[in-house]
Amino acid sequence: MKKIALLIAGALVSGGAFATPDWSKVPQRKMTLFYPGQSSLEWVMNKPDHSAVPDIVDKKRQCAKCHEGDANEIGANVVAGKPLGSSKTVLEPTPPAGKVGSIPVIFQSAHDGEKIYFRFEWVPPKIGTKKLDPKNEVKLTMMFDGGGTVEGTEINGCWATCHGDLRTMKNAKDDKKTKYIKNPDLASGRFMDLIQYRSGEKDLVDGYVAEARHMEGGKALIKAEGKKEGNKWVVTFERSLAGGGKGDHAIAAGKVYNFGFAVHEDYTNARFHYVSLGYQFGLDSPNPKVKSYIDVQKQ
Ligand code: HEC
Repeated sequence: MKKIALLIAGALVSGGAFATPDWSKVPQRKMTLFYPGQSSLEWVMNKPDHSAVPDIVDKKRQCAKCHEGDANEIGANVVAGKPLGSSKTVLEPTPPAGKVGSIPVIFQSAHDGEKIYFRFEWVPPKIGTKKLDPKNEVKLTMMFDGGGTVEGTEINGCWATCHGDLRTMKNAKDDKKTKYIKNPDLASGRFMDLIQYRSGEKDLVDGYVAEARHMEGGKALIKAEGKKEGNKWVVTFERSLAGGGKGDHAIAAGKVYNFGFAVHEDYTNARFHYVSLGYQFGLDSPNPKVKSYIDVQKQ
């Protein structure tokens, strides 16, 4: 038995691929995920609500540039139902009792020439009593564009998909309406690829966001795993670089991919999650000048 295992391990090594990256060798990036409430794209891009709009539009200032440092404060204020922004808008009209405003997540990514790996680690906040999604204690969803294919994501990440008329948002008219992007077009890459881990279900979720959110169609996700290690949650994705399914972006060297991700902690759903600001990644291409950029190195 031992011999066979060694042979298999040897074959993996000689083939240049590995079962999982040696995460201890992969740089860690801390990101503060915060509770966004009803801060839709329309709200953050409306100057009377958010004084930063001229900087965002004219100077192409990224959300992360201004908010990496205060994301924890924003989350705390939003989740407490405080009036925020220049317009003093209550972004969370139904403050969930006892919910924390933010969680620090350690993000890592590596690739092996064929597959890309993502790893997320965080200490879960206290579990409440309300279970909006009783099946799943945790869901982790990552979205990325095709390397500059979805307008705005280079600044705002997931906000490009988050609108005021979605279910549970302020101007919702339809309680089934899910995320979408403006002017979607699958053929030219104007969509967000979406992969999700669910703690209570086994099926792989590999979808995309175009005119609506689709939770299937992709063929790129190979594994989505999560486990509690001590007092931490660790979630990993393994995905082919090539993609190939409906709503799969190919990930290749030479491009900069815009991404963001969200954690639904505490059996929650819809907008009641923690979200990251917008970040970027590229393969084997360092860019230390851009703080929100992650160089995904080959292992
Ligand atoms: C140039 C810096 C800057 C950029 C870029 C920026 N913001 Fe802000 N943001 C602010 C300031 C300053 C406030 C405080 C309220 C105001 O002035 O309107 C704020 C307020 C907020 C709030 C409400 C919380 C509060 O404390 O008032 C949210 C949510 C928010 N921003 C999200 C975003 C998102 C999402 C983006 C990217 C689309 C973004 N911001 C880009 C500076 C910025």
